[in-house]
Amino acid sequence: MVAVAILAAGRGTRMKSDLPKVLHSLGGRSLVERVLDSCQLLNPEKQIVIFGYQGEKVKQALSDRPNIEFVEQKEQKGTGHAVQQLIPYLKEYSGDLLVLNGDAPLLRPETLHQLVQTHQRENNAATLLTAHLPNPYGYGRVFCDGSNLVNQIIEERDCTTAQRKNRRVNAGIYCFNWQKLLAALPKLSNSNDQQEYYLTEVVDYLNPVMAVDVEDYWEISGINDRQQLATAYDILQARIKDKWMKAGVTMINPDSITIDETVQLEPDVTIEPQTHLRGNTFVGGSSRLGPGSLIENCHIGENVTVLYSVVTNSEIEPDTTIGPYAHLRGEVKVGKSCRIGNFVELKKTSLGENTNVAHLSYLGDASVGDRVNIGAGTITANYDGVKKHQTIIGSGTKTGSNSVLVAPVTLGEDVTVAAGSVVTKDVPDECLVIARSRQKEIKGWRIKTDSQQSSVTSHQ
Ligand code: UD1
Ligand code: CA
Repeated sequence: MVAVAILAAGRGTRMKSDLPKVLHSLGGRSLVERVLDSCQLLNPEKQIVIFGYQGEKVKQALSDRPNIEFVEQKEQKGTGHAVQQLIPYLKEYSGDLLVLNGDAPLLRPETLHQLVQTHQRENNAATLLTAHLPNPYGYGRVFCDGSNLVNQIIEERDCTTAQRKNRRVNAGIYCFNWQKLLAALPKLSNSNDQQEYYLTEVVDYLNPVMAVDVEDYWEISGINDRQQLATAYDILQARIKDKWMKAGVTMINPDSITIDETVQLEPDVTIEPQTHLRGNTFVGGSSRLGPGSLIENCHIGENVTVLYSVVTNSEIEPDTTIGPYAHLRGEVKVGKSCRIGNFVELKKTSLGENTNVAHLSYLGDASVGDRVNIGAGTITANYDGVKKHQTIIGSGTKTGSNSVLVAPVTLGEDVTVAAGSVVTKDVPDECLVIARSRQKEIKGWRIKTDSQQSSVTSHQ
């Protein structure tokens, strides 16, 4: 049985922010949410968040997560003081307690699982995660005997120069036998450089305390400032990209690509430089995205090409090409084998199969059939200044260059719209519609030069 407590009461002074540190976002999720997510594999008995600085904001940010209990630390007098707040709250509890710093968002669920397993197998009073860092600056140093049993943890600022040379650091992730911790917590003092009650001091009163090393030390990175936040994002991205490359996705210049954890990719997708995949996006096999594209919350079928384009909240069926320089800005559905070309903007529009909108068009609030050719510069005038209106274009219809379809308007099937038309009335099936003034020729007309104009005046 394991309960989880997350320390999230600190302000995070080094972030220089109005927002509590644990609410800073890393790849779409806050630090504290990430820490909570990393515990889910343990199926915790309880999930307790210790809040303090701007606690209402922290509670609010977690309000839609089930089964979170909140315990307040009114004044922030250190990590040990934070855990002391649990004393009245968990008096009856007899299992283990996993304590996590709220600012360690890169932990893998498997690592926590392993920590708890070791703790229970060895019947330790406490088991903590450690790592050997090339640059241990800022972390508490862990001093062990030969067999990973911990003697002492000393904070960087309380270390002697010799002690600082120890590169084995405390991750701030601990599994405790709660009843034993309960007996140790009241013994904490604040006789250290910061005059805070350090949780790490309980090591002096518990036995045995064991250290477990993480292999990948990036996992334990604590976020204390914006640089560390940026580095954590890079680490997260590297993990996501490695996973997809192993699963059969090609990336060209992966450093220039970003992919949210929520994105799903099929094998043989190719992602070209400067392409960003966000939110709830799925991409089917053999599709080629980029260079230079942003795709957010989209379902993209197989063998689709998106080149230098922005596509959001849309659905693209297989074998369609998009771009260069197209903008599909929401609630767009494009059927199979369509071509959306240069400088085309689509909004709340559905296209059937084999339909082309190849150049310089805006279609908004439109429903377009199969095999339609939207000529260059065709625009749906969907907004009358007050309301948006629908345009319906039947299958097989062709619009001439520079036509304006003034909504609400319906063009039937196999309609041809003459170039330059302004269509304001519905058009039945199989018609040619010409809605522009007829061309006139005036014989012998020519522009008058300045001298001719002055000679005209002189005759008067
Ligand atoms: C802490 C550890 C250090 C470890 C490091 C790992 C102690 C004394 N030191 O140091 O050994 O190497 O984490 O990252 O524990 N918090 C509260 N209430 C408080 C103070 C802090 O809830 O009164 C929370 C913070 O919101 C944060 C976490 O505890 O999520 C850690 O606090 P922080 O000040 O970042 O500790 P470090 O100095 O990094
Ligand atoms: Ca920290």
